[in-house]
Amino acid sequence: MTAKPRQAESKAFWDSRFSEPGYAYGEQANDFLRASCQDMAAGDALSLCEGEGRNAVYLARLGFRVTAVDFSEVGLAKARALAEKHGVTITTMVVDLADFDLGIARWDLLVSIFAQPPSPVRQRLYGQLQQALRPQGRLVLECKADVNATADDRYPGARILRQEIAPLKVVIAREQERDLNEGRYHLGVKRTVQLLAVNS
Ligand SMILES: C[S@@+](CC[C@H](N)C(=O)[O-])C[C@H]1O[C@@H](n2cnc3c(N)ncnc32)[C@H](O)[C@@H]1O
Repeated sequence: MTAKPRQAESKAFWDSRFSEPGYAYGEQANDFLRASCQDMAAGDALSLCEGEGRNAVYLARLGFRVTAVDFSEVGLAKARALAEKHGVTITTMVVDLADFDLGIARWDLLVSIFAQPPSPVRQRLYGQLQQALRPQGRLVLECKADVNATADDRYPGARILRQEIAPLKVVIAREQERDLNEGRYHLGVKRTVQLLAVNS
């Protein structure tokens, strides 16, 4: 018997969430992303699991050429609308991370904000990070973390993620309970990992 996918893994779940009025995670970029890239020269950025566009639009407004990928076309349509509202352009691509390739020396910035793919998908993707980033390119990642998660879990902590993103040089690896205030679905105290790493 095939295991039933967890609810949050299904495209139908995300299409339905993004069909609700407003922006599920708000229109403002994630604060760790803002703190991690505001000093960067603009270049080519890829945002994984971009959803409704808050992070992609922020980067486009900084001058980055942004590609936003997600398997929810409903989310990406709202991302394009948000870009239009702010007078910027982003490229959107409907992809499933399960079979998406990051490319080779293609990106100055890779963004993964609350992308929580299942562990085999995550590990396959993170194995491509170094070859996908240009020299000095950055990875900015925040995701939810379960206490005592193992490498097989979907919400791993900083220790496991550090291993999975090697050999990128870790600049920040912070696991903490923090107060989220990002739209109506990221509200209140949650345990997260924040990672900033460089391809040095
Ligand atoms: C918690 S939301 C985060 C959205 C956005 N990064 C943000 O922080 O506002 C998770 C996102 O992952 C996307 N997603 C989940 N599994 C995916 C997969 N296998 N391939 C592509 N996108 C996926 C969902 O459609 C959703 O947009």
